[in-house]
Amino acid sequence: MKDILTECIKEKKTSYTPIWFMRQAGRYLPEFKKIRKENPNFIKLCLNSNLVNKITLQPLKRFDLDAAIIFSDILMILYGLGQKVEFKKGFGPILGEVNPDNIINTKSVDFIKKLLPIYKGIENVKNNLKNKNLIGFVGAPWTLLLYMLNKESPKNNFNFNKINKDKFLVNRLLKKIEETICLHVDKQIEAGANVIQIFDSWAGLLPKKELLNYCYIPNLKIVEHIKSKKTPVICFPKGIGESYVDFCSTVKPDCISIDYEVDPKWMKDKLNGIPIQGGLDPKILLTDKEKIKKSAENYLNIFKDYPYIFNLGHGVLPETKPETIEYLIKIVRDRK
Ligand code: CP3
Repeated sequence: MKDILTECIKEKKTSYTPIWFMRQAGRYLPEFKKIRKENPNFIKLCLNSNLVNKITLQPLKRFDLDAAIIFSDILMILYGLGQKVEFKKGFGPILGEVNPDNIINTKSVDFIKKLLPIYKGIENVKNNLKNKNLIGFVGAPWTLLLYMLNKESPKNNFNFNKINKDKFLVNRLLKKIEETICLHVDKQIEAGANVIQIFDSWAGLLPKKELLNYCYIPNLKIVEHIKSKKTPVICFPKGIGESYVDFCSTVKPDCISIDYEVDPKWMKDKLNGIPIQGGLDPKILLTDKEKIKKSAENYLNIFKDYPYIFNLGHGVLPETKPETIEYLIKIVRDRK
């Protein structure tokens, strides 16, 4: 039998609704926080194959989930390209100066060597994971370019014209980022990932007229590459609103992950059967049981006769109680 996510995406139907969560491994789990405390350097933690294996499996030990997502970070690609990446508590990522020539001249073998523990970690997880999907992931070119040039989260400070000032430089960097994303995808698939999700977390910051050049076309390149490896691909162009429809008709992902600002019913009617994932606002999980049940059932009802993977409209928030995740999974499972 096929793993349930693959079945949902490829066959466009399943006997029950598959469920997993973005950011299911990590910041809200006490068992992760303990490991994190003992490992103050986040990049080093992502390069510890044994701990990657252990952290990836933590949510699956606790909860009845259908997939594991590898514990890593989208910024590991920038680290592999030689940019300094640090995480400051309560602030987020801080990146170092950009040396375009060094970045562009990074050789594939050196990149792979630097990130080898990630691929080793995936192999370990694969050996421990029976009959479940293992999701590998990458940041989309625009989101990675943004972190590279902005050097911190755009939440703190962002100006599109500043990023886009030197078009020649931007195009050189984007090309290298795209090639490196494909390389990182290949290595994850080789190691055992059997679904890939592309996070374009900051697509919503792009002016509408720039979406084609910075979001659709770069995502399309990565999607076509992943499809050529016969691996299902899920796209998450967060925050682009009505443009989700144009995104899907241009990029044609195997599955589309929607954020909490998208009207799920409207989306379903517009999409001609492309499998949909997610949607539920992660902030709902910080409210009461009644509200959580009502909101989850709304998604389940809308997608009753549609290929749907249950997930949130963004990652699990750090404030979420693990018991709430358990409660939500039960609601979805009771619909079997
Ligand atoms: O369980 C999983 O989903 C796998 C692990 C995972 C992490 N990051 C671990 C992590 C995944 C899939 C990511 C993706 C990621 N990383 C994205 C795309 C998804 C999204 O949230 O939009 C982005 C934009 C990043 C960049 C990043 N990494 C930021 C902005 C931060 C700091 C704030 C935060 O979100 O926690 C990180 C750090 C990070 N990545 C942590 C974890 C568990 C927290 C590290 C800590 O303990 O300090």
